[in-house]
Amino acid sequence: MTSTDQLRPAVALHGVGKSFPGVVAVSDVTLSIPPGEVHVFAGENGAGKSTLMKLIAQVEPPSTGYVELDGVRVEHHGPGAARRLGVSMVHQEFALAPDLSVAENLFIGHEPGRGGWISRSAERRAARDLLAEVGLDIDPGRRVAQLSTAEQQRVELAKALAVQAKVLILDEPTASLTEGEAEELFGIVRDLTARGIAVLYISHRLDEIFEIGDRVTVMRDGAVVATRPVADLDEAQLVQLMVGRDVANLYPRTYQEPGAVRLRVSGLTRGDAVRDVSFEVRAGEIVGLAGLVGAGRTELARAVFGAELPDAGTVELDGRPLRIRGPADAIAAGIGYLTESRKTDGLALQLGVDKNITLAKLPMRAGLIDLAAERRIAERERDGLRIRVPWVGRPVRQLSGGNQQKVILARWLETGAEVLFFDEPGRGMDVGAKSEMFQQMDSLAARGAAVVLISSYLPELLNMCDRILVMRGGRITGEVGRAEFSEERVVALATGARNVENGGKNG
Ligand SMILES: Nc1ncnc2c1ncn2[C@@H]1O[C@H](COP(=O)(O)OP(=O)(O)OP(=O)(O)O)[C@@H](O)[C@H]1O
Ligand SMILES: [Mg+2]
Repeated sequence: MTSTDQLRPAVALHGVGKSFPGVVAVSDVTLSIPPGEVHVFAGENGAGKSTLMKLIAQVEPPSTGYVELDGVRVEHHGPGAARRLGVSMVHQEFALAPDLSVAENLFIGHEPGRGGWISRSAERRAARDLLAEVGLDIDPGRRVAQLSTAEQQRVELAKALAVQAKVLILDEPTASLTEGEAEELFGIVRDLTARGIAVLYISHRLDEIFEIGDRVTVMRDGAVVATRPVADLDEAQLVQLMVGRDVANLYPRTYQEPGAVRLRVSGLTRGDAVRDVSFEVRAGEIVGLAGLVGAGRTELARAVFGAELPDAGTVELDGRPLRIRGPADAIAAGIGYLTESRKTDGLALQLGVDKNITLAKLPMRAGLIDLAAERRIAERERDGLRIRVPWVGRPVRQLSGGNQQKVILARWLETGAEVLFFDEPGRGMDVGAKSEMFQQMDSLAARGAAVVLISSYLPELLNMCDRILVMRGGRITGEVGRAEFSEERVVALATGARNVENGGKNG
């Protein structure tokens, strides 16, 4: 292995800092990253990871210090400048233009062809070659809006190749991928580093930090806490560095004897996505929904919640049949749904954290919104979920990605819903916040609510649920009780690899 100081760093940061009004987002970061390294950035929500990456990608100028790329001090800012110096960034929220074709997205700003004349066929050919490098076999003429999240991400990666990036920044790239897609992404990342590209990789997932990272830099409150080779750390040490305290129990579940049936779904059908699904959830239960992406879990939740109207089937709450013609009916009946795509569904970005939290259930007094109560509620949630914001009136737009997610979570926790669907609730949240969220989920169950937890991360389901229902092809294909929990069993049910529904227990 080459010693890192023999190579000119791909990225060198010299006392780099960034302040926003009332917030020091990044403070005095000095660090150098050699070519070919996967350098992971970890730390709590709001620690400054995304902001630091934007400084490296020259989206914004730093307030203090400077950035060097491949030995060249960065003087200019804006995406064009970054591209010339070989930096490419895949943002936490993708930045592709949905209405343009894949090929157009790949070559925005630097179209192949001569004299400003864009040759469509040259563009297509070049696009196909680039897409092949990231393992994507699609028609470059397709509109980006028609692609899956994973495919859009591949297009972003191909775009980085198109500009011959020396530094590739990935901000939580697996947050919206399945396990299989994540593995494929790791393969692409390894290919890129083998060519000498330095990959800067933000992640909250411990397993993937250990799998993909060479070194990890942990940030807290804008500053670097430590930079270490990943191999020198174990999980507990990494968590300790990230949150600055021990997180004794990531999954604080206290089980109790389930009560009466609260939610009963019978014969629910919606197109091909949900087919004849029946299940019950009792008071005090957390029921998991496992399955591969596309198995119908989100569609099932949406159909119960009225976001899609079912073709057939019934939903009962506490023995009463419900007539749900839209989400408003579901909310009025006491059913909540924390959606998978939280940012697009439901945050009022211009409004304050307080207004966003109380949006679904306004505290009223004598016919007016009780502003003092609103603030109290928001402050309680801010403290409980550790939402990093200087005051609760701040527009949500200014919060970090993970903290925006916590605001929506807080809203649902405050609605007083009796039946709650959580769709991938831990996505983008740091480990401390996740533990806090699960604590609150457990309290909801303990108070007699019925909770459905959709998650693609099996340890969450295995540690939080009373039972796990497994979906495949729009149907519930099996159920596993807590006494029989094992990863193998759930994976087998989800993939249909083996028939383990009856017998065939493996521990
Ligand atoms: N445009 C802005 N205006 C005001 N404050 C901002 C702005 N952008 C970021 N911040 C603040 O800077 C801090 C760092 O945010 P950043 O997005 O870098 O965090 P992060 O480490 O990426 O967190 P997450 O894990 O939640 O994505 C946060 O307190 C955030 O609210
Ligand atoms: Mg971020």
